[in-house]
Amino acid sequence: MARKPFIAGNWKMNNTIEQGLALVNALKTAKNKNNADIMVAPSFTAINAVANALKGTGFIVAAQDCYFEEKGAFTSQVSPEQIKEAGATAVILGHSERRALFGDTNEILNKKIAAALRHNLQVIYCVGETLAEREANKIEQVITSQLVEGLKGYSAEDLKTLVIAYEPVWAIGTGKTATPEQAEEVHALIRKVLTNMLGADFANNTRILYGGSVKAENVDFIMAKDNVDGVLVGGQALIAEKFTRIIDYE
Ligand code: PGA
Repeated sequence: MARKPFIAGNWKMNNTIEQGLALVNALKTAKNKNNADIMVAPSFTAINAVANALKGTGFIVAAQDCYFEEKGAFTSQVSPEQIKEAGATAVILGHSERRALFGDTNEILNKKIAAALRHNLQVIYCVGETLAEREANKIEQVITSQLVEGLKGYSAEDLKTLVIAYEPVWAIGTGKTATPEQAEEVHALIRKVLTNMLGADFANNTRILYGGSVKAENVDFIMAKDNVDGVLVGGQALIAEKFTRIIDYE
């Protein structure tokens, strides 16, 4: 089963509007020789400008989070409707920085996924274990509960555009990439859990990205693994020539 590659850049709290526009204008020159879906996730402030600059290119523009309520007295929060109006068609939910620094639990993420789906936003749902959990042999337990609790109550049809990102917390921003074998092992586990939850067809069609210190220098080895369908890139997604090389992985 051929799954379309998915190459995503998470800009985190980086790039002004001007810097974001310079970056995407440079990225437009990527050949995209693997015919991948290409996604960029700017800060809320830059979504509109970046989405306008990318109109007609096929690039996907995503928000890095959204709130689960439709509207109201939720100071600082941004709703799915608002990010959609700004030009995003996707949203990253459950990034480990959101989980660790801002209190996003599986239960909250389950509600955020519902809100995003109500507005037809494509969800990139992140899962991953900490180093302590890995060393305590808890990878399967942690990943399973992130998937089961986060995706509870949805059918395969509801989640047909879902993308999963496996991001081991110990590999994010640390320069310590998981080996391709470590990534493959957890991706296969994720596919097994998805099979149990939503059936083999769903699991075989769902793209699973690896994230955590992906670089121009290691992307080819990671993408060579059977269960790795793409990458979610942080630091190197901010550098046009590096991210272009990642998009055009060998
Ligand atoms: P990194 O970040 O590539 O800088 O490790 C990845 C991510 O957090 O999505």
